[in-house]
Amino acid sequence: MSTIEAEVDSLRAEALEELARADSEAEQDVWRAQWLGRKDGRLTLHLRSLKDAPPEQRAAFGKSLNDLKATLEGELEARREAARAAAIAALSTEAVLDVTLPGRPQSLGRLHPVTQTMNDCIDAFADMGFQVFEGPEVEWARYNFDAVRIPEDHPARDMWDTIWIDTLIDGERNMLLRTHTSPNQIRVMEQSDPPMRVIVPGKCYRQEATDATHEWMLTQIEGLAVDEGVRMSDLKGALYAFARRLFGDERQIIFHHSYFPFVEPGVEMAIDCFLCRADGSNCRTCHGTGWIEILGAGMVHPEIIENAGYDSSRYTGFAFGVGIERVAMLRWGIEDIRHFYQNDLRFLRQF
Ligand code: PHE
Repeated sequence: MSTIEAEVDSLRAEALEELARADSEAEQDVWRAQWLGRKDGRLTLHLRSLKDAPPEQRAAFGKSLNDLKATLEGELEARREAARAAAIAALSTEAVLDVTLPGRPQSLGRLHPVTQTMNDCIDAFADMGFQVFEGPEVEWARYNFDAVRIPEDHPARDMWDTIWIDTLIDGERNMLLRTHTSPNQIRVMEQSDPPMRVIVPGKCYRQEATDATHEWMLTQIEGLAVDEGVRMSDLKGALYAFARRLFGDERQIIFHHSYFPFVEPGVEMAIDCFLCRADGSNCRTCHGTGWIEILGAGMVHPEIIENAGYDSSRYTGFAFGVGIERVAMLRWGIEDIRHFYQNDLRFLRQF
């Protein structure tokens, strides 16, 4: 046997013996670096030193070394496979993990029915050219009441039983959880000039005994349009278009006169009750009236236009406040508003 063959044979024996001891993938990585590493693997160094071998032996030596390289790479791959198979077998026999079990299905979340309805209402008004604005849920009494013509001792404050913030500022209790989105009429007018068409969605809070149509937390969308020549018929047109889009052409809509200090005249809009179909007798959801009120509205009071710094003989406006939970109830035939925030998945999964 030539010295070259002897040398290659002993290299092979040594390499394979070490590989046989490398059971884990980590040990195999170390072995690969030691023998086949590009920079200073032992076999690599041998291949590189070929150029110093006597010219008549170079070709044979080169071939033997390359054969050895192929052998070692093949063996390494085989050991790798064996190590992986052993690892999986170990996992399954140790009973920690049954790799044959089907995967767990991912449960998909969904939007809350009130959020879905809110988005649809926003889309309906946005398509009519209303821009979306947002205001704070913790509000100054000044905006929630005074600025919309409900002064401290005005009996109309009782229309909104208020949850106050228990902090005195300037010696007074003057912060609250907004009871409606109407303070944003003022906030919008402070920040922009007519012509304006804005909606303001958001949560409102009232200290209120709950029943089938009243919750202490509710969602509203405030609407405000101010321009030259805005009329009651524009308000009606916008609200009819909104109601038809949300409820379809079949539902009945009724307007009747109402009072809100910040509008004159004021109206309420109601939709025929889905349960008793405007029959009314004994219906718990519409309180026997046959109608479910979904919004308050009216022509912005001239004093509010003036306070915002505009000439009320030139500019007029309409405003409305939609109760989103009411809209959702009518839409899906939900008989009690209190279902929305009880977080009962049997209810929520239906939407
Ligand atoms: N802010 C009123 C409420 O919460 C609704 C409303 C808004 C009425 C705008 C008229 C105009 O009851």
